[in-house]
Amino acid sequence: MSKDLILLSELSVDQIDSILDRGQYWSEENNFRISNTAKVIDNPLVCNLFFESSTRTRFSFEVAAKKLGYHILNFEPSTASTQKGETMYDTLKTLESMGVNVAIIRTKEENILHEVAPKLGLGIINAGAGANEHPTQALLDLLTVRQHFNKIFGLKIAIIGDIKYSRVANSNMIAHTKYGNEILIAGPDFLLPDASSALMTNNVRKCSVDEAILEADVVMMLRVQRERHPRKSDFDWDNPDGQNSYFNQYGLTLERFKKMKPNSIIMHPAPFNRGIEIADEIVEDPKSMIFKQVRNGVAVRMALLERALNR
Ligand code: CP
Repeated sequence: MSKDLILLSELSVDQIDSILDRGQYWSEENNFRISNTAKVIDNPLVCNLFFESSTRTRFSFEVAAKKLGYHILNFEPSTASTQKGETMYDTLKTLESMGVNVAIIRTKEENILHEVAPKLGLGIINAGAGANEHPTQALLDLLTVRQHFNKIFGLKIAIIGDIKYSRVANSNMIAHTKYGNEILIAGPDFLLPDASSALMTNNVRKCSVDEAILEADVVMMLRVQRERHPRKSDFDWDNPDGQNSYFNQYGLTLERFKKMKPNSIIMHPAPFNRGIEIADEIVEDPKSMIFKQVRNGVAVRMALLERALNR
């Protein structure tokens, strides 16, 4: 078994199911409550290296490590020798030489981890790579879906908003394709994947936001990734009129929310923008899994840290 998790596309359904089984174990109340009570003989060293900002991924890995009784180190790019030109490989080799067992890495680059991982002995976990993939987010999303529906297959998944620049959307589209689910994508044309994209498999259908919301079992809203857009957008994001225009055309408004199927759920990887992607009142509605996703993030990342250490 590989010590690394770089792309969700590299996992089989059996491997995903096995990670989710262990994530489910850690998500159950009695297990989730543990804190430093795990019997750990050699106290593994885990290091967070975040070259892009993060709240959920970074802290949930930190909480997960602490719950498992592992030591967690936090690498601070702004004060590290990467500022003096040290490469990713040399940084990781340095940490490995100090005894770090697992590195959790968020990068602006899309593919740098594949270049360095085979040359290193420590485990590498991709915590989000540019606009490419965010495999740990997709795994916690899958666990959340499985807990609600008691299955992952046979579902209709709507992914709405800025899909083109979303690593979360990419990993989720890859995951739901593996489970044979129908994926409905909706949003402004300039934020949808190109027709030639490898993500546009036979199970993916482009439709309107209203159609997607009416049909879907899972309505996944996405943050507008303004920081990744290459050109001036069709919307004036800094202006309330521009924000309202996006919300009315592509957001989960109260009117659309009322048309969702009875047993359907709302997901959002967060951070979310209230009143731009999702109506304020819906964020904490029982249909919304947003904070359950956050909690499952800890459980799944506990499973992933164990996996990286082959435990
Ligand atoms: N969903 C997610 O990756 O959130 P952060 O950017 O806060 O880690």
